[in-house]
Amino acid sequence: MIKEFKAPAPERLPEAFECSWKSPSNIALVKYWGKKEEQIPANPSISFTLDHCATTTLLRCTRKEGRGVAFDLLFEGQPKPSFKPKIEKFLERILPYMPFLEDYHLEIDTSNSFPHSSGIASSASGMSALALCLMSLEKALNAGMSDEYFSKKASFLARLGSGSACRSVEGPVVSWGAHANIDGSSDLYGTVFKESIHEFFLGYQDTILLVDKGEKQVSSTVGHGLMHGHAYAPARFDQAHHNLAALLDVMKRGDRDAFTAIVESEALTLHAMMMSSNPYFILMKPNTLEIINRVWAYREKNDSGLCFTLDAGANVHLLYPEVEKEAVTRFIEAELVDFCQQGQYICDRVGKGAEQLS
Ligand code: DP6
Repeated sequence: MIKEFKAPAPERLPEAFECSWKSPSNIALVKYWGKKEEQIPANPSISFTLDHCATTTLLRCTRKEGRGVAFDLLFEGQPKPSFKPKIEKFLERILPYMPFLEDYHLEIDTSNSFPHSSGIASSASGMSALALCLMSLEKALNAGMSDEYFSKKASFLARLGSGSACRSVEGPVVSWGAHANIDGSSDLYGTVFKESIHEFFLGYQDTILLVDKGEKQVSSTVGHGLMHGHAYAPARFDQAHHNLAALLDVMKRGDRDAFTAIVESEALTLHAMMMSSNPYFILMKPNTLEIINRVWAYREKNDSGLCFTLDAGANVHLLYPEVEKEAVTRFIEAELVDFCQQGQYICDRVGKGAEQLS
């Protein structure tokens, strides 16, 4: 139990409460891959918070009698039984930090800005939006809470739902995991960067090429588990510390090409870890490789900051400076859409973090 995050006894328990938050997704630049008990990351990571790809959650609470968590889960207004076990596990896990949850029946109504079957994971934005709603409830019971504590505990709770979710509460750049060079960094919640990031990177675009819109071949829980006993894990965890330190320096200086080199190496290392684990997986598709090769060819010909990163799947995130938006869009339309399922891609950019809607 982390005492700092245990809610004090409520000053009041209103009969009903309602709130809504919209929380964005994020894209990791240095990847979180491997975790210990209680959602503690095996290495520190850092991400761009996105802007358009987001989950909106409406939470309605009504007083109830009796113990235990009780909730209904709606996805786009309709009951969604398949999402329930994950949310139930999450609510039970955070109950010691929010004992008042037992005093309410919760109705959680959630929807995503991106299509459900796009192969884009909604756990980061979804868990972050829910954690923020629950913090609004906690604030309604204990009015004197500081904004800083509100965000910190929201990130702490979101992590208990899905690790990467703790990087979605705020923006534009958030690290997670204790790191020697980052004051106040913690394995328990995200740390925000703004002033120390060169303006150039704050305008970065993220175009997500939907190469494979199917279900994930390997769930993140299974994927993280593959790092236990992995022959290369200790070296990988050291490398992540090193890459994070280097990337922060690069982002401070505004060094475009050094950024590209670290980000692409991180993406390929993530996939190399999966390819060399036991059992092993190849999560890239032939079209993923086609796109990567075309990006490299484009950079050969143009003085460009266009680079790619990958999550634990086949989709490709293209990251590039705002000034290149028109040129890169032309390139995508001319050379890359054919490698996307049904020619689909999603245009996003670096964003500011979650916002309260009501
Ligand atoms: C490859 O946060 O989805 O996207 O903590 O098990 O919910 P859980 O895992 P999750 O893992 C994300 C892994 C990644 C890299 C990253 O976002 O850092």
